[in-house]
Amino acid sequence: MRFDLLTLFPEIFQGYLAESLLKRAIEAGLVDVQLHDIRHWAQDKHHSVDDRPFGGGPGMVLKVEPVVECVEAVRRHDPDPGHLVMLTPQGRRLDQPAVERLAEHHRILLLCGRYEGFDERIRVILQPEEISIGDFVLSGGEVAAMAIIDAVVRLVPGVLGDELSSSDDSFSGEQRLLEFAQYTRPRVYRGLEAPPVLLSGNHQQIARWREENSRERTHSRRADLLDKQLPDQHVGNNSREATPPGPPREALPPGY
Ligand SMILES: C[S@@+](CC[C@H](N)C(=O)[O-])C[C@H]1O[C@@H](n2cnc3c(N)ncnc32)[C@H](O)[C@@H]1O
Repeated sequence: MRFDLLTLFPEIFQGYLAESLLKRAIEAGLVDVQLHDIRHWAQDKHHSVDDRPFGGGPGMVLKVEPVVECVEAVRRHDPDPGHLVMLTPQGRRLDQPAVERLAEHHRILLLCGRYEGFDERIRVILQPEEISIGDFVLSGGEVAAMAIIDAVVRLVPGVLGDELSSSDDSFSGEQRLLEFAQYTRPRVYRGLEAPPVLLSGNHQQIARWREENSRERTHSRRADLLDKQLPDQHVGNNSREATPPGPPREALPPGY
């Protein structure tokens, strides 16, 4: 899978690309990330990529010519023109189903804004998919682009050690609930004991405990996720009441 990052600050990505999961995915040839400095498409002798907003007001706006021409040139680098994503707080909010849809593309171009954002004609000409990573304003699209790469790369076959390990994750799999609580050694720490069933070796009981725990956690923390489920995804007789409410989150020791 190929990502093209279009940004005014390509150096921001260097450390991130050189660590951990992404580094291994790149080294294994599963993921390719290309950086492009939008400033290289600036057209005046000062290499300016931004200008004051028409109508006045604070800040600077990203100019239409360098951005459009940068995107068009980068698209031509590969026979697959790729799926263009514009990072903007005004876009559709990113969630796991959107990440899964993005992972179906072989090539994604991520267009990172800065300052007061993009000249509106960039959006009109390029018709990108507009994505926000949440209802807050970042200084630039780079962190949002990293979040998208990070989430999408986990779904590229071969990137996670165990192919199944992303299906149990929160918001994933058929049910899209929060993941169950996890424990590792030591079995007891400061009087807090890991649930004995997880050490029982009984895979059926472990699976049942995890399913119930996942449902209880979702109920107490993110009941909205249960509301999104189809009726037949509810446990028992298809009614919300069939889900035993978990104890209030405050009553649980940390980690539960
Ligand atoms: C300071 S923001 C511009 C915000 C713009 N003035 C507005 O209010 O919609 C600069 C850039 O950061 C990026 N950005 C900021 N918040 C974001 C978010 N929640 N999701 C994705 N990108 C974001 C976008 O690329 C944006 O063009």
